[in-house]
Amino acid sequence: MNRLDKYLATAGIGTRSEVKKLIRDGHVKVNGVKAKHADMKVDEENDEVLFDDEPVSYSEFVYFMLNKPAGYISATSGFEPNVLDLIIEPFRNLFPVGRLDKDTEGLLLITNDGQLGHELLAPRKHVEKEYYVEVDLPLSDEEIARIESGITWKDETYKPAKYKKISDTSFTLVITEGRYHEIKRMMLAVGSKVTYLKRLRMKDLVLDEDLKPGEYRYLTDEEIASLKEV
Ligand code: URA
Repeated sequence: MNRLDKYLATAGIGTRSEVKKLIRDGHVKVNGVKAKHADMKVDEENDEVLFDDEPVSYSEFVYFMLNKPAGYISATSGFEPNVLDLIIEPFRNLFPVGRLDKDTEGLLLITNDGQLGHELLAPRKHVEKEYYVEVDLPLSDEEIARIESGITWKDETYKPAKYKKISDTSFTLVITEGRYHEIKRMMLAVGSKVTYLKRLRMKDLVLDEDLKPGEYRYLTDEEIASLKEV
């Protein structure tokens, strides 16, 4: 059971104070009856809640796929523009799962499901992350072999990455760690500099090509289920 105002806010209808007003103004029905009180209790499983006569789809957690644009930091607050500034729905406690550098683009999962976020980031889970990478200088076969077998650089060790060539200076890399500046540092270790970086995939979740930088969409039920298989 949940308070009606909390239920509606969790379902993304509005902030707590906005939904209180919507209830007062008669926009909400519970089991066919106009709701009068924000603190009435609703049963998430069995009660039918309508907002302007449309069923409210309720789930405890929400999951968004964002195509992160450059220029945003992967944080929840601060002085610089952050990725949550791009999400207009009024959900509380959203956070990005993992960090992309300010100048990195691409797939970022945004959710309020702390448990899933934790599981996906746990180092022991070795969740795959695939990136499209452009560098300033072509890599030699020897340098590619180092990337594929794991690199030690400045006292840091980076696990083997899967490399797939696209052109002399562009390729995809699959990594299973989430170390700070991991790909940029791996490239510096082999004498190249990253000039463009975009995340394409996390586990089975592939960046939707229809999303332009800065756009996002809800994950499908299948996408959520497959992320939870960790
Ligand atoms: N590796 C990096 O260097 N930066 C990112 O944003 C992600 C992976």
